[in-house]
Amino acid sequence: MTDLSDIKDRSLYKNPAFSIDRRVDDLLARMNLEEKIYQLNQYTLGRNNNENNIGEAVKNIPAEIGSLIYFETTPELRNSVQKKAVEESRLGIPILFGYDVIHGFRTIYPISLGQAASWNPELVEDACGVAAQEAFTSGVNWTFSPMVDVARDGRWGRVSEGYGEDPYVNGVFAAASVRGYQGDTLSAKNKVAACLKHYVGYGASEAGRDYVPTEISKQTLWDTYLPPFEVGIKAGAATVMSAFNNISGIPASANYYTLTEILKKRWKHRGFVVSDWDAVKQLITQGLAANEKEAAWYAFSAGLEMDMTDNCYQKHLGKLVKEGKVSMEAIDDAVGRILRLKFELGLFENPYTEILPDDKRFLLPSSLNVAEQLAQESMVLLKNNKGVLPLKKGYKIAFIGPMANNRLHLLGSWSAHGNEKDVVSILDGIRKEKGFIKKNILFADGCGFDGNDQRGFAEAIRVAEQADIIIACLGEKKTWSGENASRSVIALPRIQEELLENLKKTGKPLVVLLSSGRPLDLSRIEPLADAMLEIWQPGITAGIAVAGILSGRYNPSGKLPITFPYTTGQIPIYYNHRKSGRTHQGKYQNITSEPLYSFGHGLSYTKFEYGTLKLSSSKIRRGDTLRAEIEVKNVGNYDGKETLLWFVADPFSSITRPVKELKYFEKKEIPAGESRIFTFDINLERDLGFVNEDGKRLLENGIFYIMVKDQKVKIELID
Ligand code: GLC
Repeated sequence: MTDLSDIKDRSLYKNPAFSIDRRVDDLLARMNLEEKIYQLNQYTLGRNNNENNIGEAVKNIPAEIGSLIYFETTPELRNSVQKKAVEESRLGIPILFGYDVIHGFRTIYPISLGQAASWNPELVEDACGVAAQEAFTSGVNWTFSPMVDVARDGRWGRVSEGYGEDPYVNGVFAAASVRGYQGDTLSAKNKVAACLKHYVGYGASEAGRDYVPTEISKQTLWDTYLPPFEVGIKAGAATVMSAFNNISGIPASANYYTLTEILKKRWKHRGFVVSDWDAVKQLITQGLAANEKEAAWYAFSAGLEMDMTDNCYQKHLGKLVKEGKVSMEAIDDAVGRILRLKFELGLFENPYTEILPDDKRFLLPSSLNVAEQLAQESMVLLKNNKGVLPLKKGYKIAFIGPMANNRLHLLGSWSAHGNEKDVVSILDGIRKEKGFIKKNILFADGCGFDGNDQRGFAEAIRVAEQADIIIACLGEKKTWSGENASRSVIALPRIQEELLENLKKTGKPLVVLLSSGRPLDLSRIEPLADAMLEIWQPGITAGIAVAGILSGRYNPSGKLPITFPYTTGQIPIYYNHRKSGRTHQGKYQNITSEPLYSFGHGLSYTKFEYGTLKLSSSKIRRGDTLRAEIEVKNVGNYDGKETLLWFVADPFSSITRPVKELKYFEKKEIPAGESRIFTFDINLERDLGFVNEDGKRLLENGIFYIMVKDQKVKIELID
C-alpha cells in the first residue's frame, strides 16, 4: 500500500490529476470497514425483467452500495439513486450500474450462437458497440456479457448464449465483444465494462440440465473451458462472473484455484469477479457451506470480490473480519479492484447519465444496419437441393408455420429491452422485399409451436396447394432456450414435424426455415426438405435478413459453430474430440454415429473452388516462421463471402490431442469469377503446442498436419 502520510490534499481520490492507483489507495485509507463491505455487494433497482431471478424489489438502497443491477430504460431513476450516493454518503463513491445486455439493449441482434455462425468478429464488435451505446445512454455502465462458455450439449438452453463448441471461436468472439463494449478507453462515452461469464466450465452441465454439477478434469479445464476466458482477459475484460456449477467438487464460486491461482496470479487480472445471482448463498445447497456466513467466507477467501443479490457479504463479512477469519488486506484488495473500475469508467467525474430522448439513442439507422448485416451473415444454408433457393421471380409462395408471422420469438432469450413491435417478421420481410408481388405471397399458421392441435393443417394444405413453392417457417419459442431452459430432446415438437409431413404430400418444393436457440435434431425434417436455412434467433431485423437470402439479394455465408447431431441420443458430439482406439468399432447399432451437420458446415449460392494447400516449409525448428497458404476461387454466378477454417492435427503427443483443432479462421468477400489467397501465419507454440493439466504450455517435436477442408499437409518439427 502506498504511504499516504505525505499527502495533504484531502480530496486526492477525487482529483483525476492523480493516478488511479493513488486515488484508490487514498480512498481506501479513508474508508471504514462498513463502507468497504458495502462496495462488495450488488442489489437490484427498477422493475426486474429477468424472468429467472425475480427477486424482492430492494427498498431503501444504502447510498454506499457498490453496485446495482438496473432494469429501467431511462436514466432518471438511476441518476436519482446515484445522486444519493455521490452527494449524501460520506465519501461520495458512485454506484456501478450493471445489466444483462447480451445481444443488444433495444436494438436486438442475433443471439451469440448466431453471431458465431457469422464468423465475422469485426461485425460482432460493431454490434457490441451498438449495445454499449444504448446501454450507456440508459444509465448502464457494465454489461454481464460476453458469455464464453464452450458448450457441446444442445439440451442445455444456454448453448444459445455462447459461441458454440470450439474454444478458439469462443475466444475470438470474447475479444471482439470486449473491444466492442469497452472500446479503447473505459471512460469514453457510450462504452461499458464487459464481464466474461460464466467462469468456469458451466457449459459442461451434465445432460444439459442447468445449474447441475460438472465433472471436468484439470486437463480439460485447461484444454477446453479456460482458453476463451484467457483470451478475454488479455483483451482487457474489466470483470468476470463466477458460475453456478460445481467443478468436480469445488463450486466455481468458491474455487480458489480458478478464481485466484489462475485468474489473479497467472493471468494477472486487475479487475474483479462478481458472483452469479445468489451464487454465494447457493454454496449451501451445493453442499459446501453449512450456512450463509460460511458461504461468505468460502467465496470471499477463494477470490470472489462482489456478491450479487444474496446479501451474504453484507451480513457476514464484517464479523468474519472481526473474528480474524478474513484479513483487512484481503478486503482492501477486493474493494480496491471495484474502486479501480469505477475510476476507470470515469464515474467519479461523470456519475450521472445525460437524459436523451429515445429516438436519439435507440434503433438508430446505423444500429439497425449493423443488426441487419449480422443477422444476414449469421444465417446458415444447411441444404439446397437442385438450387431451389434463391426463389425464382414471379413464384407464388406459401409461407406456412408458427414462425411465419411471429415476432416475439425471433428476439431469442435475454432480449433485454427488445420490443416485439420492433421486430420484422418473416412475412413482414418478404412483403417488403423488392421483386415479390404481394398477391403472390400466401400465408397460413398451420399449427402452434407445440401441443397437438392439427385443426390448422387443412387451411395450410389449401394455401400450399395454390403456391409454386412452400416456405415452412418452424422453430422454437424464445423461452425454450437461454437460462433454466433445458430440453430432453432437441427435435422440434412433433406437431411441427407433422405439419411438414402434410405439406410434403402436396408434392411442392419445400423450403424449411428454422429459428432456434440451439442445434436441432432434424433427422425427420431433413428428408422432407429440399432446402433448409437455420436463421437462429436473429433479432429485430429477422424478416429483412431472411427475405434478403430467399430473394438472392444476399448470398448466405453462415457456417455452423456447433455440431448438429443426427439425434439427441448422439449428444455429446463435437468435432474436436480426442481419438478412439478403435475407429472401425464402437459405433451405434441402430443409428449412424456421424452428426447430421458438422462444425463448419454451411452452403452458399455460389461455388468456391479450393486450390492446393501450400506450406512455406516441410521441416521447421523452434523460432522458425511457418506460413500456410491456399487460393480460393469463386467459380459460381454469385458474389459471396467464404470463411476459411484452418485446423491443426497432432497425431502423436505426450498428452493426446483432439482429432483436429481450429487454430485460425478468416472470412473474405470473393466476387464471382475472382480468387483470393488465404494465409495462416502459424505460431509454433500457440498453434502446434498444447497445455498440460497445470496450464503449462508444451511444444513437442514430431509430425503435425495443417488442414483445410479435405486437404492436409504434413509438417515436422525438429531440433
Ligand atoms: C443470471 C445468469 C447470469 C446473469 C445474472 C444476472 O442468473 O446466470 O448470466 O448475468 O443472473 O441477471
